Amino acid sequence: MNTITRRGLLIGGLGTAGAAGFGAYAATQGSGASAPKGTFGAPTPVSPDPGQTVVTKTLTAKPITLDLAGRTVSTWGYGDAVPGPLLRATAGDFLRVTLDNRLPDETTIHWHGLRLRNPADGVPGMTQDPVKPETSYVYEFTAPDPGTYFFHPHVGVQLDRGLYAPLIIDDPNEPGDYDTEWVLVLDDWIDGTGTTPDEVLEKLLANDSGSGGMGGMDHGEMDGMNQGAMDEAAPWGDAGDVTYPYFLINGRPPADPETLTAKPGQKVRLRIINAASDTIFTVALGGHRMTITHSDGFPVEPTETDAFYIGMGERYDAIVTLEDGVFPLVAKPVGKTSGGQAMALVRTGSGAAPAADANPRELTREVLVGSDLRPVQAAKLPSRRPDATARLTLTGSMQPYAWGMNGAPFGKNEPLTVRAGQRLRINATNMTMMTHPLHVHGHTFALPSGLRKDTVLMAPMQSFAIDLDADNEGDWLIHCHNIYHGEAGMMIALEYTA
Ligand code: C2O
Ligand code: CU
Repeated sequence: MNTITRRGLLIGGLGTAGAAGFGAYAATQGSGASAPKGTFGAPTPVSPDPGQTVVTKTLTAKPITLDLAGRTVSTWGYGDAVPGPLLRATAGDFLRVTLDNRLPDETTIHWHGLRLRNPADGVPGMTQDPVKPETSYVYEFTAPDPGTYFFHPHVGVQLDRGLYAPLIIDDPNEPGDYDTEWVLVLDDWIDGTGTTPDEVLEKLLANDSGSGGMGGMDHGEMDGMNQGAMDEAAPWGDAGDVTYPYFLINGRPPADPETLTAKPGQKVRLRIINAASDTIFTVALGGHRMTITHSDGFPVEPTETDAFYIGMGERYDAIVTLEDGVFPLVAKPVGKTSGGQAMALVRTGSGAAPAADANPRELTREVLVGSDLRPVQAAKLPSRRPDATARLTLTGSMQPYAWGMNGAPFGKNEPLTVRAGQRLRINATNMTMMTHPLHVHGHTFALPSGLRKDTVLMAPMQSFAIDLDADNEGDWLIHCHNIYHGEAGMMIALEYTA
């Protein structure tokens, strides 16, 4: 079958690009790219402004176990649970978060989606030294924009363990026209089920060795590799490299779902975060329509739908008025045929719980593509001609094979550059046959509609002109939020020049 063949070819050859992942940033910079950044040392302490509220927290990254409906797996997490503890502040607050690294590996924390000061961005070799085992590191930054965010490491494929947690920045000026709020973190899970994300990556990278770069055709039989089914209903082409045994909402599989309770008629705000490494989901609440209100933290024109897609790294907020009964809230993996789905239960009345494979019809009715949302006026970038343009192609070639940007893996591609104060237009094109969630650090960009995003799904051969204001100096990453693609080289730097 065509799909399998193409997938095989796509996977084959990853090994040639493997060394260029972000763990190797400092080591690989230099060939026409920027100079090695060297070491950073301890973070320079910064002080809150007078009157700024300080939110202080310590996060301990450590080996833990997770109970998957009776099966105990070993993993790494923040604190004792997956997801880690919710971190919450108000827009304008000063966050001072200590990362206490009790892992047997180096780590960092990246505050995904926040326009924060560059030294707190958590990219080893680019904004800080990696945090060594048994040491700690203090992140200090102001959270400027309200919204739904999350945080995770920026080292290797650690995100595909249990190292993630929601971050909510409240809006002091928002009326909050709802009765209750539920935070739902979606994930694809393989860690501790007989393999680890590092081993999955190793297999992906090794899959072409000894076969001339074309030997990936049997990868579907390999442990942890996706069989590569096309999802005919989805516009996303082929989506995902890894076969996961579980999909989770708030750390729980559908056989032991979280139950969210409220009263019929209540309005609930859902904050949905896709923390998966390799899975796009379709999200629906059985028996309900949802009104999407925010995308990647920013308000949109309220838009009603039965379901919506959410890519890795994206966040959507929705308002739902609850019916009476018990309903499945389902996140169905796009393009994946094994591992079931992710599910939580919404209970407002009596009734039997839906089965773990509940298939609400909303999933296949009207499914919203996030980039079609319209921004509210206040969330638009002020209209302005771009001062500079840059080209950004998402690339994958077979011989030699690499996930890359602008034709080369990270470290071998030229950084994009911008001067402070410029409006930069990035003409982004996905030249591959897979969908990639394109993520920009330190800035939120605008799609041509004005929609503000920090992560946008790009379907095969799709283009977007994205505009950003260069108002946050430093060296930043732009990358695919499929963590395996990113680690294989699908990243590029965005640098401010004088
Ligand atoms: Cu969640 Cu570099 O990203
Ligand atoms: Cu990708």
